[in-house]
Amino acid sequence: MPTTLITNIGSLVTNDPSLGTGPLGLVADAAVVMADGLIAWVGPADRAPAADEVYDAGGRAALPGFVDSHSHLVFGGDRTQEFNARMSGTPYTAGGIRTTVAATRAASDAELDATVARYVAEARRQGTTTIETKSGYGLTAEDEARSLRIAAAHTPETTYLGAHIVAPEYADDPAGYVDLVTGPMLEACAPHARWVDVFCEKGAFDGDQARAILTAGARAGLIPRVHANQLTYGPGVQLAVELGAASADHCTHLTDADVDALASSGGATIATLLPGAEFSTRATYPDARRLIDAGAAVALSTDCNPGSSFTSSMPFCIAVAVRDMRMTPDEAVAAATLGGARALRRDDVGRITAGARADLMLLDAPSHVHLAYRPGVPLVSRVWQGGVRAA
Ligand code: NIG
Ligand code: FE
Repeated sequence: MPTTLITNIGSLVTNDPSLGTGPLGLVADAAVVMADGLIAWVGPADRAPAADEVYDAGGRAALPGFVDSHSHLVFGGDRTQEFNARMSGTPYTAGGIRTTVAATRAASDAELDATVARYVAEARRQGTTTIETKSGYGLTAEDEARSLRIAAAHTPETTYLGAHIVAPEYADDPAGYVDLVTGPMLEACAPHARWVDVFCEKGAFDGDQARAILTAGARAGLIPRVHANQLTYGPGVQLAVELGAASADHCTHLTDADVDALASSGGATIATLLPGAEFSTRATYPDARRLIDAGAAVALSTDCNPGSSFTSSMPFCIAVAVRDMRMTPDEAVAAATLGGARALRRDDVGRITAGARADLMLLDAPSHVHLAYRPGVPLVSRVWQGGVRAA
């Protein structure tokens, strides 16, 4: 593979403070060399080594590819009607998930595969180069396993979410459903998944059920992450920290003890904030400032799904987080890149440093701050994934 030099980068976010200024490790007038799919060199353009190919960034800003650590892309149908009703005042509940379960079960493998491909590509055009995605709309052993098999063809970051809601067939026997999720369904799914997740919420799974499901998943070699404290206060966040989950996702309704638990995990459990969900359900946003000031590590992700957050756009999430969650532009950009990488326990993405994967984007803008300053504007102008031009 020929080496490529990207030069004349007006402002480069490395996410490595040792390479530049501030926590983002900003380098002005920078260059990056990519070789064999990895970053081979980063620094000031006037000191860059020679390469086989040269690309002139024209003074544009560059940053690491976004790491979207929370999405639900394996689904059939959509929920336009539910969204319409919600915008006329009908509140969001976990119950809408059933609509998508029926449509997902009815969809062919090819249809589901095309859906995942479509939204992974849509996300990539907006700068996302690493994306996690979940099962959770099959809710039978077969449909959960096929969801994960299909997801795994598009990303290594796959999450078993058989515990999204109690399957309709088990409405009168939730304990029986937990037995299925921790037994035969887990066995069918574990080979296709890296993570195990549970929707710990009123109308979904309580703390005891969530503990049983996450513990069983961990025994099968999956690493826990939790949908926690989205719609109401509850045990999800503290359970996530107690079990050493990689992330507690949503974190919208937090007590001081929840915030303390996340902070005292020392970065082991990342608070993953999903503003697309509050935006699209007209709910109150999580308070990122409170978490950051307490010392908790945060990530920003899309939660892309047909019910609560049908956006694949990390730039949109950054803009909302800055406008409404009291994050600075620097914090939001860090949370959408390095934060996501930490939530996926990956040190090869989310940064532009020698040895990392050559996942980066150029913006049609002089600075990463424009992602928040120019909301809704398609600023992502070029994307490399593993050193290959991807958009
Ligand atoms: O993260 N909270 C649970 N799951 C999704 C919503 C899924 C749906 O409504 O289809 C979420 O918001
Ligand atoms: Fe979710």
